[in-house]
Parts: sequence; structure tokens; C-alpha cells
Amino acid sequence: MRNAGRLALLIVVVLALGFLVLPSTVSLFAGQHDWYDIDTAGNQIPCQKCHADIYVELNGSPYHKGWGTSNTTADEGDCVACHQANTSITYANGTTNQPGTGAHAAATIACMYCHGDSTTGAPVAGGFGLSNLANDTGTYAAHFDFVSTANSSSTILLDENEACIACHTHVAVKINFTHYKALEFDVTWNTTSSAYETSNYAINTSTGTVYTIWGNANGDGGLLNNSTTTTTWGTGTWP
Ligand code: HEC
Ligand code: HEC
Ligand code: HEC
Ligand code: HEC
Repeated sequence: MRNAGRLALLIVVVLALGFLVLPSTVSLFAGQHDWYDIDTAGNQIPCQKCHADIYVELNGSPYHKGWGTSNTTADEGDCVACHQANTSITYANGTTNQPGTGAHAAATIACMYCHGDSTTGAPVAGGFGLSNLANDTGTYAAHFDFVSTANSSSTILLDENEACIACHTHVAVKINFTHYKALEFDVTWNTTSSAYETSNYAINTSTGTVYTIWGNANGDGGLLNNSTTTTTWGTGTWP
């Protein structure tokens, strides 16, 4: 009986090996020999095949869908309109038999490549002193530091993309805002003009308060005051 058991086990093992090893010559990936035709103008590689998450986001957005075959639905033509927008780079092109020396399918791109230059046809993001508009100095921009620091000290994304994306997309944000303790100044009585005068405006920085402010992907959010009090609005959940 023991030998019969061993034989049965041996048969199972041999069969299992057969399943694993024998069909290897025919277990090619389905579709492996069905090439996309890239000879027509434009890009025929479906970027969304691998970047389905990005496709779904773009497809649900109001902008940046007008480059491909449809103005209302996102497609691979929209992906390359942005990711090949930098015309100083040579990309691969099956229509003209171009191998692509700068980048093959895509390069990372700065929003301001299109939105900083009025000749690209995109609406210009002026007021940061970054566009080619003659009177764009950025002098009054409340978010000048936000945008310029995103450019100079952050390497997460290209140029000032972090700031553009933080405001213009549903990406969640978390900010540590430091507020000073007090505003201080002197009030003195001017005997000549018989009026009070204020002077020596200063900020008291001795113990600043840090508010941790966060906004989730719905635009809802909340704040943590010195890590003790939490206030939220909307759905109020940190993603
Ligand atoms: C077969 C899957 C596949 C297809 C098709 C594909 N990608 Fe990718 N892509 C990847 C993978 C994997 C990565 C991450 C690894 C890397 O950066 O090399 C990536 C990364 C990227 C990045 C980020 C690079 C970076 O440095 O942050 C961009 C932009 C990009 N792809 C754009 C595209 C565009 C545009 C297309 C269509 C022309 C495309 N991809 C088609 C798989 C794919
Ligand atoms: C390839 C060029 C290009 C790039 C890169 C690009 N955009 Fe655009 N953008 C456009 C064009 C063209 C329009 C107007 C047509 C449309 O809505 O698609 C537009 C529209 C917009 C609008 C709506 C403007 C309005 O007046 O309604 C916003 C906001 C915007 N883009 C922000 C961004 C941000 C943020 C980035 C970077 C993450 C970016 N864009 C990258 C070309 C570009
Ligand atoms: C409006 C311009 C625009 C369009 C359209 C666009 N992208 Fe992007 N994409 C960007 C920008 C800007 C970034 C950030 C690049 C950086 O600074 O690294 C980015 C980042 C990416 C990344 C890397 C970051 C990540 O989240 O993985 C991938 C991958 C990518 N895009 C793929 C795509 C694909 C696929 C499509 C088409 C479905 C597409 N993009 C359409 C502008 C665009
Ligand atoms: C502090 C938040 C903030 C930042 C940072 C920001 N924007 Fe804006 N942007 C706005 C607001 C607010 C509007 C006007 C919104 C409206 O009309 O509803 C706007 C408008 C725009 C428009 C439309 C202009 C037009 O002519 O129609 C574009 C394009 C744009 N921004 C792109 C960008 C780009 C690119 C960046 C990065 C350099 C950027 N923005 C940074 C808040 C921001």
C-alpha cells in the first residue's frame, strides 16, 4: 500500500512538472505578435494601457482633452500633446522613421512651457513674472513666493509645477502655516497736532503658532492647531 501511495504521489509530481515545463514553448503572451500600426501621423501607442489611473483623471477633467481624436474624451493624442510639447527634444516617430534621441515616448513637462508663452495658444498664466507678456512683472502676486520656491527649491516636479498643480488640480495638500504671536506698535500723543500717532510697527515672533492645514482631494479639509484642536469641514477626512 505504501508503494502504491508513493507511485500516486510520483504521478502527481510528474504531471505537475509537465504542466509547468512542457507547454513553455507555446505559452507566449496573447497579442504578442500583434503590433500597433504606428505609421499614421501622431501617436498610436495607447498610453492609457499602462497609465489607466492618469487616463481616468484626465478623462474626467474639463481641460486638456482637445488634442487627440476627440475634444470630449481623453486619448493618447492628449498624452503626447503635453508629454512631447517640448519641441527642442527629438522624440521617436514611426511616421517619419525617427528613432528619438532626446526622449523616446515622453518627457516630463512644465505647465509653463505652454502657459508661460502666449504664442503656444494656451491661456497664459500671467502675474508671476514668468510669462512672455510685456507687462507681466509679478509685482503684486500674493503667491509669488509659493510659485518661485516651488521652482527653485523643490525637485519633486519640474519647475513651478508643484504650485500650479497644488492650486489647479484635486491633489491633496498639507501645509504648516506659521503665524506670529502678535502685531506690536507704539501709540503716542503728539502735542503739536493734538492727535495720537502710531509708530514702530513690529511683529512679535517669540512664540509663533503653527497651524497644520490640509485639504483632501475633494477640496474639503481641516486644521490642527498646535496638534491639539482639530477642526474640519466638508467630508473632512485626510486621504
Ligand atoms: C507598457 C506600459 C507603458 C506604456 C504603454 C506607457 N508607459 Fe509611461 N511609464 C511606464 C512605466 C512602467 C513607467 C515608470 C518607469 C519609468 O519611468 O521608466 C512610466 C513612466 C512614465 C512617465 C513618468 C516619467 C517620470 O520621469 O516621472 C511619463 C510622463 C509617462 N510614462 C508617459 C507616457 C506616455 C505619454 C505614454 C504614451 C505615449 C506612455 N507613458 C506609455 C509604462 C508605460
Ligand atoms: C501642451 C501645452 C499645455 C500644457 C503642458 C499644459 N496646458 Fe493647461 N491648457 C493648455 C491649453 C491649450 C488650454 C486651453 C484648451 C483646453 O482647455 O484644453 C489649457 C487650459 C488650462 C486651464 C484652463 C484655463 C481657462 O481659462 O479655462 C488651466 C487651469 C490649465 N490649463 C492649467 C494647467 C496646468 C496646471 C498645467 C500643468 C500641470 C498645464 N495646464 C499644462 C495647454 C497646456
Ligand atoms: C496638460 C498636460 C498633460 C496632459 C494632457 C497629460 N499629462 Fe501627464 N503630466 C503632466 C505634468 C505637468 C506632469 C508632471 C511632470 C513633472 O513635473 O514631473 C505629468 C506627469 C505624468 C506622469 C508621472 C507622474 C505620475 O503621476 O505617475 C505620468 C506617468 C503621466 N504624466 C502620464 C500621462 C498620460 C498617460 C497622459 C494621457 C492619458 C498624460 N500624462 C496627460 C502633464 C500632462
Ligand atoms: C494660489 C493658487 C494658484 C496658483 C499657485 C496658480 N494658479 Fe492659476 N489660477 C488661479 C486662480 C484663482 C485662477 C482664476 C480662477 C477662476 O477664474 O476661476 C487661475 C487662473 C489660471 C489660468 C486661466 C488664465 C486665463 O487666461 O483664462 C491658467 C491657464 C492658470 N491659472 C495656470 C496656472 C499655472 C500654469 C500655474 C503655475 C505657474 C498657476 N496657474 C498657479 C490660482 C492659482
